[in-house]
Amino acid sequence: MTQIRTKIAGLGFFVPENIVTNDDLSKVMDTNDEWIRARTGIEERRYVTRFKDTPATMGTEAAKTAMERAGVTAEDIDFVIFATLSPDYYFPGGGVLVQRELGLGHCGALDVRNQCSGFVYGLSIADQYIRTGTYKNILLVGSEAHSPGIDFSTRGRDVTVIFGDGAGAAVLQPTTEEGRGILTTHLHADGTHAEKLAFINPGSHSGVFTEDRSLFPQEDPYASLMITPKMIETGDHYPYMDGQFVFKNAVKRFPEVISEALQATGYNVEDIDLLVPHQANLRIAQFVQKLLRLPDEKVFNNIQKYGNTTAASIPIALCEAWEQGLVKDGDLICLAAFGSGFTWASALIRW
Ligand code: UT7
Repeated sequence: MTQIRTKIAGLGFFVPENIVTNDDLSKVMDTNDEWIRARTGIEERRYVTRFKDTPATMGTEAAKTAMERAGVTAEDIDFVIFATLSPDYYFPGGGVLVQRELGLGHCGALDVRNQCSGFVYGLSIADQYIRTGTYKNILLVGSEAHSPGIDFSTRGRDVTVIFGDGAGAAVLQPTTEEGRGILTTHLHADGTHAEKLAFINPGSHSGVFTEDRSLFPQEDPYASLMITPKMIETGDHYPYMDGQFVFKNAVKRFPEVISEALQATGYNVEDIDLLVPHQANLRIAQFVQKLLRLPDEKVFNNIQKYGNTTAASIPIALCEAWEQGLVKDGDLICLAAFGSGFTWASALIRW
């Protein structure tokens, strides 16, 4: 029987026009271009323009390009998967907003909450639906607007300087071409470290998982999903990251999950034509590259221009690599991600 696999039929990305350099950030907080470049590789990032760009609008723009390149129209899309950690609304999810903006009728729309691994998790979900013949055109979007929710005072500089806004999208279709398409995906999570990189407040956690139970709003015992004056005073309504701890785990999990994908398919690291890692920090990608002994031309990085765009980083990078002619027919492409959760994941694709 002919095997059905999933192929990426079209890619697109959208980044807001507002470019924010390291020097721009150094005007509002105690940081500098040298520190940011040396520790992260980032030179600039994009920020959404208020009343214009949102995760859903950026995702919609990226999707339009991906759909055009795949040669599909709104009627063809039969499922939407939307990955983000910065949704337009707490609920409903961004998938339905993209569905509405694109006029996709009443197809299903699923939101994925797996942060930096969101796109690869979404890819794996889509792959299952396509292999089983359930859907024929899945729109997968990764989109983030970090800038509206980060701390621009010196207190938040470690987190704030690394994140950027943007969106990437892919249209996924079945293929029966021998050996082509998504060969394997691998998903992992370790909730032990859930709070090491997290946006906790406001939330419904009731103070149960945080060491400081006073974070749970005392003002109104029935309303926990609100920002309290204490949170604002302490900055607990901003994302928190234990940077060094995350870094150490990332450099362990990236190679691990890449090796897992290679082992599952019988390939060696030398067989990879292009590794597109989640753009967390250029130092992490370089560490992984060195460990795997991959030459420069086999690892794609664009964090220098866009910062860390979480769920959007892999589709933006993959799309840019493709636009630059670095993803060619027959190439073995490896995607790998690690981030908050912790979650980590990989995919091997024969293009
Ligand atoms: O995508 C999801 C996964 N996320 C990641 O993978 C991020 C992983 N972690 C990292 O990328 C790095 O840990 C950071 C880039 C966030 C931080 O770099 P670091 O080398 O781990 O720095 P650090 O947090 O250990 O801080 C070193 C020093 C500290 O000063 P002291 O205590 O040595 O005086 C910080 O206060 O650098 C200071 N610092 C800064 N200085 C200037 C922290 N942030 C900044 C900043 N500008 N933006």
